[in-house]
Amino acid sequence: MLFKQQALLRQKLLVLGSLAIGSVLYLVARVGTLDRLQPTCPIEGRLTDPDQIPLRTLQFKRGLLRKLCKGNASREQTHRQSLVQQLPRAIIIGVRKGGTRALLEMLNLHPAVVKASQEIHFFDDDENYARGIEWYRGEMPFSFPHQITIEKSPAYFITEEVPERIFKMNSSIKLLVTVREPTTRAVSDYTQVLEGKERKNKTYHKFEKLAINTNTCEVNTKYKAVQTSIYTKHLERWLKYFPVEQFHVVDGDRLITDPLPELQMVERFLNLPARIGQYNLYFNATRGFYCLRFNIVFNKCLAGSKGRIHPEVDPSVVTKLQRFFHPFNQKFYQITGRTFNWP
Ligand code: A3P
Repeated sequence: MLFKQQALLRQKLLVLGSLAIGSVLYLVARVGTLDRLQPTCPIEGRLTDPDQIPLRTLQFKRGLLRKLCKGNASREQTHRQSLVQQLPRAIIIGVRKGGTRALLEMLNLHPAVVKASQEIHFFDDDENYARGIEWYRGEMPFSFPHQITIEKSPAYFITEEVPERIFKMNSSIKLLVTVREPTTRAVSDYTQVLEGKERKNKTYHKFEKLAINTNTCEVNTKYKAVQTSIYTKHLERWLKYFPVEQFHVVDGDRLITDPLPELQMVERFLNLPARIGQYNLYFNATRGFYCLRFNIVFNKCLAGSKGRIHPEVDPSVVTKLQRFFHPFNQKFYQITGRTFNWP
């Protein structure tokens, strides 16, 4: 009898436990999919003032959507004001390894921002570009009309044809460039390539061998990781199409150590109400980086491929590179009006 009661109790506990775990998993799964909103629900033009939007938690986004779905919008309103795929009003054009992913994910904390999750490579890839602007729009996430879509493709910054192509799409688009101290960025760039080679069991040169021309002992300006870090050279190409006011430079080093002030500057640049707060960012000691908090249940850190350990570089090579970049950096500060403490 006692044995039977115990078995019954165990069974009940098991059911209750499964229910609890199931509920938690369900909640996490629901919250995790919230920004993949489907274009099934009409909206009633109630979202025109971004200042009216409280800080987005992902639940808020879904809750709002449901509320609006229950509304009594007419069929005509339904068609007129559905969720839409909008062309980006701002693009993170680079710089590779400057913290472009962190910037995009962090901006996506804002209720009025919707991100294109993947790098689209529309303007730098001739094949994609030939597919036309409606193909590009089709790659964009669904959003409410008052929201702005942002995409990031760091190759844009260094690809010759891109400024003109973006200009043709929207000459008043806002352009975000996140930069890091150029030598650190070059080493980060090298580390990414090295990891790719190692994954394929291939050997690769040391950074020093690539960055320094062994014949002249000078900086190898043909090395792509060096070229990409000459920010002013690329920016000058962009300035043939866009005025400097349309660019905002983000300090990618500060984005690592203290992201909030950088994000607040971007909010202002994009004319968005200040909605990203300290609550949304927390330092994860294990990762050694800030991670994102959307709400009480849903947090996320960037993938492990962000924040690699860099190889040690010969200090004399570091100094040589820093000296090489110095005059270009000065010019970059002068043009952009943003000065960094780079050596
Ligand atoms: P490292 O891997 O050299 O550390 P990108 O997204 O443009 O490829 O940039 C990657 C860099 O973003 C990483 O370079 C990392 O330092 C930086 N970063 C900035 N904020 C980060 C964050 N919160 N989590 C992870 N990496 C971050």
